[in-house]
Amino acid sequence: MQKQVKVSAPGKIILSGEHAVVYGYPAILAAIDRRFSVEVGEGETLANLPPDNKELLEFALNEINRNLNKRKPTDYRIIIDSQIPIGCGMGSSAAFAVALSAAVLRYNDKPWNLEKINKIAYGIERKQHGNPSGGDNTISTYGGFLLYRKETETFKVFSSLKTQNFPSLFLINSGKPVETTGEMVDRVRKLYLKSPLKADKVFKEIEQVARGFLKFLSKEESKLGELIKTNEKLLEKLGVVSEKTVNLIRKIEKIGGSAKISGAGGVKENSGIIIVYHPDWEKLIAFAKNKNLDIFGVKLGEEGVKIGKS
Ligand code: PMV
Repeated sequence: MQKQVKVSAPGKIILSGEHAVVYGYPAILAAIDRRFSVEVGEGETLANLPPDNKELLEFALNEINRNLNKRKPTDYRIIIDSQIPIGCGMGSSAAFAVALSAAVLRYNDKPWNLEKINKIAYGIERKQHGNPSGGDNTISTYGGFLLYRKETETFKVFSSLKTQNFPSLFLINSGKPVETTGEMVDRVRKLYLKSPLKADKVFKEIEQVARGFLKFLSKEESKLGELIKTNEKLLEKLGVVSEKTVNLIRKIEKIGGSAKISGAGGVKENSGIIIVYHPDWEKLIAFAKNKNLDIFGVKLGEEGVKIGKS
Protein backbone atom coordinates (compact mmCIF):
# COMPACT_ATOMS: atom_id res chain seq x y z
CA MET A 1 0.00 0.00 0.00
CA GLN A 2 1.23 3.52 -0.79
CA LYS A 3 2.30 5.57 2.17
CA GLN A 4 0.19 8.63 2.88
CA VAL A 5 -0.32 11.02 5.81
CA LYS A 6 -3.29 13.28 6.48
CA VAL A 7 -3.06 16.22 8.86
CA SER A 8 -5.40 19.09 9.64
CA ALA A 9 -4.89 22.42 11.40
CA PRO A 10 -7.48 24.98 12.56
CA GLY A 11 -8.11 28.54 11.48
CA LYS A 12 -8.34 31.26 14.11
CA ILE A 13 -9.86 34.48 15.26
CA ILE A 14 -8.13 37.20 17.28
CA LEU A 15 -10.28 38.21 20.22
CA SER A 16 -7.99 41.11 21.04
CA GLY A 17 -4.54 42.51 20.33
CA GLU A 18 -4.11 42.41 16.53
CA HIS A 19 -1.53 44.94 15.29
CA ALA A 20 -0.50 45.82 18.87
CA VAL A 21 1.00 42.30 19.06
CA VAL A 22 3.53 43.27 16.36
CA TYR A 23 4.90 45.86 18.88
CA GLY A 24 5.25 43.41 21.77
CA TYR A 25 1.79 43.83 23.31
CA PRO A 26 -0.30 40.77 24.19
CA ALA A 27 -2.93 39.20 21.94
CA ILE A 28 -5.65 36.68 22.71
CA LEU A 29 -6.32 34.17 19.98
CA ALA A 30 -8.77 31.29 19.65
CA ALA A 31 -8.71 28.29 17.32
CA ILE A 32 -11.97 27.77 15.44
CA ASP A 33 -13.90 24.82 14.07
CA ARG A 34 -12.81 25.37 10.47
CA ARG A 35 -9.78 23.44 9.37
CA PHE A 36 -7.17 23.19 6.64
CA SER A 37 -6.32 19.60 5.63
CA VAL A 38 -3.18 18.44 3.87
CA GLU A 39 -2.58 14.94 2.56
CA VAL A 40 0.96 13.97 1.63
CA GLY A 41 1.71 10.88 -0.39
CA GLU A 42 4.20 9.38 -2.79
CA GLY A 43 4.50 10.80 -6.26
CA GLU A 44 5.69 13.71 -8.31
CA THR A 45 5.46 17.06 -6.49
CA LEU A 46 2.01 18.17 -7.37
CA ALA A 47 -0.56 20.06 -5.39
CA ASN A 48 -4.10 21.15 -6.10
CA LEU A 49 -3.21 24.77 -5.36
CA PRO A 50 -4.01 27.87 -7.43
CA PRO A 51 -1.05 28.72 -9.75
CA ASP A 52 -0.04 31.84 -7.77
CA ASN A 53 0.49 29.67 -4.67
CA LYS A 54 2.94 27.29 -6.36
CA GLU A 55 5.93 29.48 -5.49
CA LEU A 56 4.89 29.52 -1.83
CA LEU A 57 4.53 25.73 -1.85
CA GLU A 58 8.01 25.38 -3.30
CA PHE A 59 9.42 27.72 -0.64
CA ALA A 60 7.51 25.86 2.10
CA LEU A 61 8.79 22.45 0.98
CA ASN A 62 12.37 23.76 0.81
CA GLU A 63 11.99 25.18 4.31
CA ILE A 64 10.69 21.84 5.62
CA ASN A 65 13.40 19.86 3.79
CA ARG A 66 16.04 22.14 5.29
CA ASN A 67 14.70 21.28 8.74
CA LEU A 68 14.79 17.59 7.81
CA ASN A 69 18.47 18.05 6.85
CA LYS A 70 17.67 16.69 3.41
CA ARG A 71 20.19 17.56 0.77
CA LYS A 72 18.11 16.27 -2.09
CA PRO A 73 14.51 17.47 -2.21
CA THR A 74 11.90 14.73 -2.04
CA ASP A 75 8.83 14.74 -4.22
CA TYR A 76 5.43 14.62 -2.58
CA ARG A 77 1.96 14.34 -3.96
CA ILE A 78 -0.05 16.89 -1.99
CA ILE A 79 -3.79 17.20 -1.74
CA ILE A 80 -5.25 20.15 0.13
CA ASP A 81 -8.77 20.76 1.29
CA SER A 82 -9.85 23.79 3.32
CA GLN A 83 -12.92 25.09 5.13
CA ILE A 84 -11.22 28.44 5.87
CA PRO A 85 -11.93 31.43 3.60
CA ILE A 86 -8.68 32.76 2.10
CA GLY A 87 -7.28 36.19 2.97
CA CYS A 88 -10.05 37.22 5.39
CA GLY A 89 -8.14 37.15 8.68
CA MET A 90 -9.16 33.61 9.63
CA GLY A 91 -5.64 32.24 9.56
CA SER A 92 -5.87 30.24 6.33
CA SER A 93 -2.21 30.78 5.36
CA ALA A 94 -0.94 29.86 8.84
CA ALA A 95 -3.13 26.73 8.96
CA PHE A 96 -1.69 25.74 5.56
CA ALA A 97 1.88 26.27 6.80
CA VAL A 98 1.23 24.31 10.01
CA ALA A 99 -0.64 21.41 8.37
CA LEU A 100 1.92 21.07 5.56
CA SER A 101 4.91 21.14 7.94
CA ALA A 102 3.29 18.58 10.25
CA ALA A 103 2.26 16.30 7.37
CA VAL A 104 5.69 16.29 5.71
CA LEU A 105 7.52 15.73 9.03
CA ARG A 106 5.17 12.87 9.82
CA TYR A 107 5.54 11.42 6.33
CA ASN A 108 9.29 11.34 6.97
CA ASP A 109 8.65 9.40 10.22
CA LYS A 110 9.71 12.29 12.46
CA PRO A 111 8.28 12.39 16.00
CA TRP A 112 5.20 14.58 16.52
CA ASN A 113 6.86 17.75 17.81
CA LEU A 114 4.61 20.84 18.10
CA GLU A 115 7.50 23.19 18.81
CA LYS A 116 9.25 22.13 15.61
CA ILE A 117 6.05 22.29 13.53
CA ASN A 118 5.37 25.80 14.85
CA LYS A 119 8.92 26.98 14.15
CA ILE A 120 8.91 25.77 10.54
CA ALA A 121 5.43 27.21 9.97
CA TYR A 122 6.64 30.59 11.28
CA GLY A 123 9.44 30.55 8.69
CA ILE A 124 6.84 29.94 5.97
CA GLU A 125 4.60 32.72 7.34
CA ARG A 126 7.53 35.14 7.27
CA LYS A 127 7.98 34.49 3.58
CA GLN A 128 4.34 35.38 3.01
CA HIS A 129 3.77 38.29 5.40
CA GLY A 130 7.19 39.87 5.97
CA ASN A 131 7.17 40.53 9.69
CA PRO A 132 4.35 38.53 11.28
CA SER A 133 4.04 38.24 15.06
CA GLY A 134 3.83 34.45 14.82
CA GLY A 135 0.49 34.40 16.64
CA ASP A 136 -1.43 32.81 13.75
CA ASN A 137 0.85 29.79 13.35
CA THR A 138 1.09 29.32 17.13
CA ILE A 139 -2.69 29.16 17.68
CA SER A 140 -3.07 26.85 14.67
CA THR A 141 -0.39 24.54 16.11
CA TYR A 142 -1.51 24.45 19.73
CA GLY A 143 -5.25 25.17 19.41
CA GLY A 144 -7.55 26.25 22.26
CA PHE A 145 -7.26 29.84 23.52
CA LEU A 146 -3.83 31.47 23.77
CA LEU A 147 -2.36 34.54 25.35
CA TYR A 148 0.49 35.38 22.98
CA ARG A 149 3.33 37.84 23.13
CA LYS A 150 6.26 38.45 20.79
CA GLU A 151 9.03 39.81 23.00
CA THR A 152 11.73 39.74 20.32
CA GLU A 153 12.11 38.09 16.93
CA THR A 154 13.39 34.89 18.52
CA PHE A 155 11.67 35.05 21.91
CA LYS A 156 7.93 34.58 21.90
CA VAL A 157 5.89 33.59 24.92
CA PHE A 158 2.45 32.10 25.02
CA SER A 159 0.20 30.48 27.51
CA SER A 160 -2.79 28.26 27.01
CA LEU A 161 -5.94 29.76 28.57
CA LYS A 162 -8.40 27.44 30.21
CA THR A 163 -11.99 28.49 29.81
CA GLN A 164 -15.40 26.87 29.81
CA ASN A 165 -18.53 27.70 27.91
CA PHE A 166 -17.40 30.65 25.88
CA PRO A 167 -20.62 32.19 24.48
CA SER A 168 -21.36 31.44 20.86
CA LEU A 169 -20.10 34.08 18.51
CA PHE A 170 -21.01 34.75 14.94
CA LEU A 171 -18.68 35.86 12.22
CA ILE A 172 -19.70 38.10 9.36
CA ASN A 173 -17.45 38.06 6.34
CA SER A 174 -17.18 41.68 5.19
CA GLY A 175 -15.21 40.36 2.19
CA LYS A 176 -11.57 39.84 1.29
CA PRO A 177 -9.60 43.06 1.77
CA VAL A 178 -7.79 44.52 -1.22
CA GLU A 179 -4.70 44.94 0.98
CA THR A 180 -2.52 42.06 2.19
CA THR A 181 -1.69 41.53 5.88
CA GLY A 182 1.84 42.80 5.16
CA GLU A 183 0.46 46.02 3.66
CA MET A 184 -1.81 46.60 6.66
CA VAL A 185 1.04 45.98 9.10
CA ASP A 186 3.08 48.47 7.06
CA ARG A 187 0.30 51.03 7.28
CA VAL A 188 0.34 50.85 11.07
CA ARG A 189 4.15 51.02 11.01
CA LYS A 190 3.91 54.32 9.09
CA LEU A 191 1.45 55.70 11.66
CA TYR A 192 3.80 54.56 14.43
CA LEU A 193 6.80 56.25 12.78
CA LYS A 194 4.83 59.46 12.27
CA SER A 195 3.31 59.67 15.76
CA PRO A 196 4.96 57.11 18.05
CA LEU A 197 3.39 58.48 21.24
CA LYS A 198 -0.10 58.46 19.78
CA ALA A 199 0.27 54.94 18.38
CA ASP A 200 1.78 53.65 21.62
CA LYS A 201 -1.14 55.11 23.59
CA VAL A 202 -3.58 53.16 21.40
CA PHE A 203 -1.52 49.96 21.81
CA LYS A 204 -1.57 50.42 25.59
CA GLU A 205 -5.34 50.85 25.53
CA ILE A 206 -5.63 47.70 23.41
CA GLU A 207 -3.55 45.91 26.04
CA GLN A 208 -6.08 46.95 28.69
CA VAL A 209 -8.88 45.47 26.55
CA ALA A 210 -6.87 42.25 26.14
CA ARG A 211 -6.61 42.09 29.94
CA GLY A 212 -10.38 42.58 30.10
CA PHE A 213 -10.78 39.56 27.80
CA LEU A 214 -8.56 37.55 30.13
CA LYS A 215 -10.88 38.47 33.00
CA PHE A 216 -13.86 37.52 30.88
CA LEU A 217 -12.29 34.13 30.14
CA SER A 218 -11.68 33.53 33.83
CA LYS A 219 -15.24 34.71 34.61
CA GLU A 220 -14.08 37.69 36.70
CA GLU A 221 -15.82 40.05 34.30
CA SER A 222 -18.86 39.68 32.09
CA LYS A 223 -18.89 42.64 29.72
CA LEU A 224 -18.00 40.82 26.51
CA GLY A 225 -19.98 43.23 24.31
CA GLU A 226 -18.21 46.27 25.79
CA LEU A 227 -14.78 44.71 25.32
CA ILE A 228 -15.49 43.98 21.65
CA LYS A 229 -16.84 47.49 21.10
CA THR A 230 -13.87 49.21 22.77
CA ASN A 231 -11.35 47.10 20.87
CA GLU A 232 -13.05 47.95 17.57
CA LYS A 233 -12.89 51.71 18.26
CA LEU A 234 -9.16 51.41 18.99
CA LEU A 235 -8.58 49.53 15.72
CA GLU A 236 -10.46 52.31 13.94
CA LYS A 237 -8.05 54.78 15.56
CA LEU A 238 -5.18 52.78 14.07
CA GLY A 239 -6.82 53.26 10.69
CA VAL A 240 -7.23 49.60 9.73
CA VAL A 241 -11.02 49.49 9.24
CA SER A 242 -12.73 50.63 6.01
CA GLU A 243 -15.54 53.17 5.99
CA LYS A 244 -17.90 50.51 4.64
CA THR A 245 -17.07 48.18 7.55
CA VAL A 246 -17.30 50.97 10.14
CA ASN A 247 -20.82 51.73 8.83
CA LEU A 248 -21.83 48.09 9.13
CA ILE A 249 -20.44 47.83 12.67
CA ARG A 250 -22.30 51.01 13.77
CA LYS A 251 -25.52 49.42 12.45
CA ILE A 252 -24.85 46.25 14.45
CA GLU A 253 -24.32 48.42 17.55
CA LYS A 254 -27.60 50.23 16.86
CA ILE A 255 -29.53 46.95 17.08
CA GLY A 256 -27.86 46.18 20.44
CA GLY A 257 -24.88 44.13 19.29
CA SER A 258 -21.15 44.68 19.17
CA ALA A 259 -18.57 43.79 16.55
CA LYS A 260 -14.89 44.08 15.75
CA ILE A 261 -12.64 43.15 12.88
CA SER A 262 -10.34 40.21 13.57
CA GLY A 263 -6.89 40.25 12.01
CA ALA A 264 -5.14 42.78 9.85
CA GLY A 265 -8.30 44.49 8.52
CA GLY A 266 -8.53 46.50 5.30
CA VAL A 267 -9.31 50.13 4.44
CA LYS A 268 -9.99 50.49 0.73
CA GLU A 269 -13.09 48.32 0.56
CA ASN A 270 -13.53 45.26 2.79
CA SER A 271 -11.96 44.48 6.17
CA GLY A 272 -12.17 40.68 6.28
CA ILE A 273 -13.90 38.77 9.01
CA ILE A 274 -15.87 40.55 11.76
CA ILE A 275 -16.55 38.98 15.16
CA VAL A 276 -20.12 39.71 16.24
CA TYR A 277 -21.77 39.37 19.61
CA HIS A 278 -25.43 39.99 20.34
CA PRO A 279 -27.40 38.93 23.41
CA ASP A 280 -30.36 38.15 21.11
CA TRP A 281 -29.10 35.95 18.26
CA GLU A 282 -32.40 35.90 16.43
CA LYS A 283 -32.32 39.67 16.12
CA LEU A 284 -28.79 39.54 14.71
CA ILE A 285 -29.57 36.79 12.22
CA ALA A 286 -32.70 38.62 11.01
CA PHE A 287 -30.56 41.77 10.54
CA ALA A 288 -27.89 39.85 8.60
CA LYS A 289 -30.46 38.11 6.40
CA ASN A 290 -32.14 41.40 5.64
CA LYS A 291 -28.80 42.90 4.59
CA ASN A 292 -27.79 39.77 2.69
CA LEU A 293 -24.64 39.37 4.81
CA ASP A 294 -22.46 36.26 4.90
CA ILE A 295 -22.96 35.21 8.55
CA PHE A 296 -22.02 31.94 10.26
CA GLY A 297 -21.51 30.62 13.79
CA VAL A 298 -18.12 29.50 15.10
CA LYS A 299 -17.00 27.29 17.93
CA LEU A 300 -13.92 28.59 19.72
CA GLY A 301 -11.11 26.78 21.50
CA GLU A 302 -10.86 23.89 19.02
CA GLU A 303 -8.01 21.40 18.85
CA GLY A 304 -4.72 22.40 17.25
CA VAL A 305 -2.88 20.50 14.51
CA LYS A 306 -3.73 16.80 14.47
CA ILE A 307 -3.42 13.64 12.43
CA GLY A 308 -6.54 12.94 10.44
CA LYS A 309 -8.72 15.09 8.28
CA SER A 310 -11.00 16.98 10.64
O1 PMV B 1 -3.19 37.75 8.89
P1 PMV B 1 -4.30 38.24 9.79
O2 PMV B 1 -5.33 39.03 9.08
O3 PMV B 1 -4.83 37.17 10.67
O4 PMV B 1 -3.64 39.34 10.76
C1 PMV B 1 -2.61 39.06 11.60
C2 PMV B 1 -2.65 39.95 12.79
C3 PMV B 1 -1.68 41.12 12.82
O5 PMV B 1 -1.54 41.46 14.19
C4 PMV B 1 -2.24 42.31 12.07
C5 PMV B 1 -0.33 40.78 12.23
C6 PMV B 1 0.46 39.77 13.03
O6 PMV B 1 1.44 39.28 12.46
O7 PMV B 1 0.14 39.48 14.19
